[in-house]
Amino acid sequence: MFLGIDLGTSGVKALLIDSEQRILSEATAPVESGFSEPPFSEQDPATWIAAVEAALDRIRAEAAMGLAAVEAIGLSGHMHGAVLLDGDDKVLRPCIMWNDGRSAKECQLLEQAEDFRGIGGNLVMAGFTAPKLLWVAEHEPEVFARVRKVLLPKDYIRLWLTGEYYSEMSDASGTLWLDVAGRRWSDALLAACNLDRSQMPELCEGTEISGTLRSEHCRRWGFKPSVIVAGGAGDNAAAACGMGIIRDSAFVSLGTSGVVFAPTEGFRPCTAKAIHAFCHAAPDTWHQMGVILSAASCIEWLAGLFQRPVDELLALAPEKIDAPSRMTFLPYLTGVRTPHNDPNAQATFFGLTSDTEISDVLQAVLEGVGFALQDCFLALSEADTPVSEAYAVGGGARSLRWLQTIANITGVRLLVPEKGEYGASFGAARLAMAAANGENAAGIFAKPVVKSVVEPDLGLLDAYNAAHSEFCRKYFANRE
Ligand code: XUL
Repeated sequence: MFLGIDLGTSGVKALLIDSEQRILSEATAPVESGFSEPPFSEQDPATWIAAVEAALDRIRAEAAMGLAAVEAIGLSGHMHGAVLLDGDDKVLRPCIMWNDGRSAKECQLLEQAEDFRGIGGNLVMAGFTAPKLLWVAEHEPEVFARVRKVLLPKDYIRLWLTGEYYSEMSDASGTLWLDVAGRRWSDALLAACNLDRSQMPELCEGTEISGTLRSEHCRRWGFKPSVIVAGGAGDNAAAACGMGIIRDSAFVSLGTSGVVFAPTEGFRPCTAKAIHAFCHAAPDTWHQMGVILSAASCIEWLAGLFQRPVDELLALAPEKIDAPSRMTFLPYLTGVRTPHNDPNAQATFFGLTSDTEISDVLQAVLEGVGFALQDCFLALSEADTPVSEAYAVGGGARSLRWLQTIANITGVRLLVPEKGEYGASFGAARLAMAAANGENAAGIFAKPVVKSVVEPDLGLLDAYNAAHSEFCRKYFANRE
């Protein structure tokens, strides 16, 4: 048996699979939402541990025998967060999350101070870990002075599970302190933030062993004594592992954030379009990624405003959309990374009139996220990674109408996997399997069976190209 644990922004998911990768048990537990007032977004790491405990309790209640047969655990989690620990591993302040945009000024300072684009392979963007530490140094010097370790969110869970300070390459890439080509910490990039290697965790590959489960946890949940904990991966790389997207293929994810993810041959940075160029979870693999900060969260936000459940709201979308909306929505509720790198971007509606109905607003929001994803696909093309077909995953991918809209806008064929589990927790469980059996053990990273294919409606492509140009024009005009 293998256990995957994914720390999501709103909840923890634990998943138990057997050696045939059949799911034996799964459990989720909510994470408290924390402090969220754009550009600030913080969570208390203690609430993550409580959620992991609750998820493990549920798995034990359902499959105690399965838990007792676990050989390895894999971890995944939201990326870029800064968990700051003192010399006694006490959390010094709430975690500054991936969607926190407070450090725009610090990004500029770091860009001037060191070759982040060359060594780190990425623009210094406000969600990344490095500028957050510079912000803490400036605004909370007493906290900064006490920082003995900086951990990523899932690596804080690892510390609790194993007592080890470890990270792995995919998540470490998103700190901006990694030499992404060399897969090691960069002393120069750390020094630009007045940090050094001693404050960083050790590094391993996602498929390697990072430690073993502490005996108190073995006793509490009935694990056997020698359970290993794999390196695991940041949530996007873990989701890719869950879909077997290691060296080819691509996925688009409609979660809280929106992501277009594609493996690359070797390390291939493209900072001009705010492409993320990171290590993948398997040794000697890399990937590119376009990231927007609000995707399915735009629908949740709208459902909240209109006080309707998300599914009820989505059912208001026209069954067949035969022309772009007369309205435009810029989906930047929490800023945007690819391609604009604009943490201060705001969401905006254009074209409201007295006859606008909820369904019009909804269509504009579905399309707005689609246009922002098209920006990511175009940015990847410019980075020599054209994508013509992608697996569609994440909560938003349950809406076929939304997927059709995105296919029509982007011209990308969307592959909908057969019902089942392909997300980050499944990828984490697969990484656990790889750590126990060797990453080349046959069939670990198989691709999902495709249930249906959403083909772009080529008849709408010209109209949507024009609407996308208008969307871009409105963004730039609005920014001015
Ligand atoms: C990726 C990113 C998000 C988070 C949250 O760069 O910031 O996708 O990992 O899921």
